[in-house]
Amino acid sequence: MSVGIPIVRAWPEPSGAPLTDPELTALYGRAGHPHLRVNFVSSVDGAVTLDGYSEGLSGAPDKRVFGLLRMLCDGLVVAAGTLRHEGYRAVRLDEQRRAWRREHGLTDCPTLVVVSGSLHLDPAQACFADAPVRPIVLTRDDAQPPPGLTDVADLVRCGADVDLVAGLAELRRRGLAELLCEGGPHLFGALTAADLVDELCLTVAPLLAGAGPGRITAGDASAPRQLGLRHVLTAGDGVLMLRYTRDQDQPAHGGATSAG
Ligand SMILES: NC(=O)c1ccc[n+]([C@@H]2O[C@H](COP(=O)([O-])OP(=O)(O)OC[C@H]3O[C@@H](n4cnc5c(N)ncnc54)[C@H](OP(=O)(O)O)[C@@H]3O)[C@@H](O)[C@H]2O)c1
Repeated sequence: MSVGIPIVRAWPEPSGAPLTDPELTALYGRAGHPHLRVNFVSSVDGAVTLDGYSEGLSGAPDKRVFGLLRMLCDGLVVAAGTLRHEGYRAVRLDEQRRAWRREHGLTDCPTLVVVSGSLHLDPAQACFADAPVRPIVLTRDDAQPPPGLTDVADLVRCGADVDLVAGLAELRRRGLAELLCEGGPHLFGALTAADLVDELCLTVAPLLAGAGPGRITAGDASAPRQLGLRHVLTAGDGVLMLRYTRDQDQPAHGGATSAG
């Protein structure tokens, strides 16, 4: 794990000194029960992309936390739109992070979980073809896989549309209790609407992207969900890393606060 640009805690108590990897790991941690964490980066004016990609909003501090969150999860959930657009590669962790996982009784790498209704997926894409752990695809009952997809991934059929409550329940039944969702906006919107989001980790990049790009959430409108701020980290020349979680008195859909 590289330290790179220092990250400090600004709130609730200022850390003063830059946070070490173990301190950052403790700040994000594992929930110890079924939990869905969502991670995004946006500009200050709310853009989800710069020139069409998240890369332009990210930087060394965001990438450090991004990698750390991958280390902490059982399953890494990404929607097909983001997987295709951002050209997802195999989910691999460096040896230090794999060792951390082994010490904590986890598999070496998290399982990639792709959400795709259409199954318009390329089995030759590295995230499938080169995966260290066989990925899972949550899809519709009637979706037809392209040739070769079932050689490299397990399909989980979740209803006439992709029923995310049923899909996440099946992931938990398979031992993937703590999930990290890396987007994109349509999947985040659907997860919010289904009341499945327990945590949002949001990096705010200190720039105005201007009009054009969408927000971190998209799709049909849904009821607002109250979150509580857990920490504020800062890095470099104005990057904020915010961690919000569902209020304790608002248990998650699908028993996310129960032990398991
Ligand atoms: N700033 C960031 O942190 C960040 C993070 C992620 C992505 N992004 C950006 O976001 C953009 C892509 O986002 P997007 O909103 O267009 O797409 P998306 O949410 O990544 O993917 C949408 C696709 O995912 C599948 N899907 C999602 N929710 C589903 C549901 N409830 N039921 C069934 N299928 C579902 C469908 O795939 P099928 O078409 O296969 O049916 C759908 O077309 C890209 O520009 C990417 O760079 C930014």
